[in-house]
Amino acid sequence: MNNNQPIINSKTLIALAFALGLTNLARAQNITIPVETKNNALVLQVDGKKDVGTIYLGKKLNDAAAYAQIPSVYKQTADYTDNTSNSAYSTSGSRGYFEPAITVTHADDNNSLDLRYVSHKVTKTDNNVSLLSVVLKDPAYNFEVTLYYKSYFNEDVVEQWSSIKHSEKGNVVLQKFASANLYLKAAKYYLTQYHGDWAKEMQPEESLITHGIKTLDTKLGTRANLFQPSVFMVSLDKPATEDEGTVLYGSVEWSGNFRTDLELDNQDNLRIIAGANNYASAYTLKPNEVFTTPAFLYTMSDKGKGDASRKLQHWARNYRILDGNGNRLTLLNNWEATYFDFEEQKLFELIKDTKKLGVDMFLLDDGWFANKYPRNGDNAGLGDWQENKKKLPNGVSSLVKEATNNGVKFGIWLEPEMVNPKSELYEKHPSWVIKQPKRAEHYFRNQLVLDLANPEVQNFVFSIVDDLFTKNPELAYIKWDCNAVIFNAYSAHLKNQSHFYIEYMRGLYKVLERIRAKYPKVPMMLCSGGGGRVDYAALKYFTEFWPSDNTDPLERIFIQWEYSYFYPAITSSNHVTDWGKQPIKFRVDVAMMGKLGFDIVVSKLSGDELKFCQNAIKNYNQLKDVIWHGEQYRLADPRKNSVAAIMYIDEVKSNGVMFNYLVNNRYDEGSKLPIKLKGLDAAKRYTLKEINLYPGSNSSLDATKTYSGEFLMTIGYNPDVKAGRNSVVLQINEAK
Ligand code: DGJ
Repeated sequence: MNNNQPIINSKTLIALAFALGLTNLARAQNITIPVETKNNALVLQVDGKKDVGTIYLGKKLNDAAAYAQIPSVYKQTADYTDNTSNSAYSTSGSRGYFEPAITVTHADDNNSLDLRYVSHKVTKTDNNVSLLSVVLKDPAYNFEVTLYYKSYFNEDVVEQWSSIKHSEKGNVVLQKFASANLYLKAAKYYLTQYHGDWAKEMQPEESLITHGIKTLDTKLGTRANLFQPSVFMVSLDKPATEDEGTVLYGSVEWSGNFRTDLELDNQDNLRIIAGANNYASAYTLKPNEVFTTPAFLYTMSDKGKGDASRKLQHWARNYRILDGNGNRLTLLNNWEATYFDFEEQKLFELIKDTKKLGVDMFLLDDGWFANKYPRNGDNAGLGDWQENKKKLPNGVSSLVKEATNNGVKFGIWLEPEMVNPKSELYEKHPSWVIKQPKRAEHYFRNQLVLDLANPEVQNFVFSIVDDLFTKNPELAYIKWDCNAVIFNAYSAHLKNQSHFYIEYMRGLYKVLERIRAKYPKVPMMLCSGGGGRVDYAALKYFTEFWPSDNTDPLERIFIQWEYSYFYPAITSSNHVTDWGKQPIKFRVDVAMMGKLGFDIVVSKLSGDELKFCQNAIKNYNQLKDVIWHGEQYRLADPRKNSVAAIMYIDEVKSNGVMFNYLVNNRYDEGSKLPIKLKGLDAAKRYTLKEINLYPGSNSSLDATKTYSGEFLMTIGYNPDVKAGRNSVVLQINEAK
């Protein structure tokens, strides 16, 4: 608005309009719909033409009535007629001129869509969770979209999705079907995205978003995150740091192909359109069928990345991860100890080692199954889930029994969605396999993916798990692996191949639902030859995930650091292996920062190494509650410092643990400056005691000294990290 113009408030304008009989103008009174959480607000506005736009996404205002004034204070560029760029769910083929959230072909072959407000309502689940639904309809077609905004007040988290239906005279084809369409205003936007590959997961890149569209997506079908996960951050105005700046975290809750478009428009506003990828996936929607998109998840903080990540971690533990506030099992895995080369007696020894080490469970990995084509390598047997008679003449049950006799639990590896061409399963059911009928087969780790779009395959996959538990009710854990991407996407079961990628995921979720209905509590690890597969749709069914096959502890400091922005430590399966050059202490200390496991040959450990591990596991058992359920603070970034540090503190700010590592081996590098702790009570006093000391070594730190929380957070503490002390674990306790 021009400053010289007279100011007429909206009430006067509407009264005037009625007086003059201008009912259209009277109807033009806007409806403002705020979605508020503890600190943030997403504000929708319905204008006189019944377009629903996003007028604000950011820090909450105390006076909710003031949201309606927001649009008037922006003067970015000419306001083109009927501009819908801030649409809450942008359409194509009518008035939109930017990337749409939805594109359809109607039953009469028309490609236009225009969605106008019909109604909205808010349903409160409890004091923390509310669901706003906004119904939109096309004035020219019987086509309807409902937008959903599920808000978690205390966690500042919102999940957004949409449901789409129509009652046209024939089918409608959904060409694009995003979950959410956000709209942000800032001077500048900085995107943090991730890329990777096997053993190189979660490599961050930060860049200024420029005009046009930046797309984050995958087309791998399954194991979808191999090259790029769906998690990302957008900082507003300037790059956010750990403790400063405004940052939004986003993630698509979908384990298959996802797509997020970040479009900087002509007015310098950022449009984020995210959901399942529409790549090769035009969806034919029958009249009255409801298509529900997966959810897009986001949180926002004006206090930097650390605060945003703790909000997400809280939400994940309280609302998403299976048994997010529960316990986990420490374990000894045999993968790197034996690979495929084992038999019953050898496993009995490893079970004894499990007990000796002091962990809760023995986890039997790949190689225990298949007879016609024994699983002695990764080129055969996948799909034939009968115990290999040579290796396990007495079956899995004798191993479970042996574990029980030794006072430990027993878990098992599966890769149920996959098949080796060299298998009885492939011979019997070639139509269950994803492959193009007219093309040569393409393999990924010598294997193919089963067609989970087919209900028979769903039954088969469910039965693999079900049979194991029926025969071995004491089974305590499943490592669910997934080592191939989808090539030659084609389902012999489906009539419409465009539905393939969506039906595959729906099929997978159906199986997981059935497993959880029958086995609600059994812990399961989501594994994918590394972190090729973790997202907040899958974590509904899983207790933890495998961040990377790369267990070199130096690499893991970086990988685990980046995952920690999005996923709580309780979900991060960290195994001590023989990867890397670091001594056992360094390896164990790094693995302790999440859910601890071992994948080593215990019998090859020296006396001191074994003693160290046993003692570290005892320490871990004392500390695991705060690591799994406490607040996590990143203190020193390994990408910016020679020393990396991270700490965990309990809710009452009394007890915690701080991990410190030397990540730069150049001459004389170390913790030259004190490291500032976070999340403590300034008024309390604390002791810091070095634990996980290697037998025979003494700490250079004085555990009897006390420091105020204020001191530790303002001045800091020096863990004395340097060559020869390259990994230091400090137990933090309130001094009473
Ligand atoms: C890939 C996993 O990441 C490994 O830990 C192991 O389970 C192998 N698969 C087994 O084939």
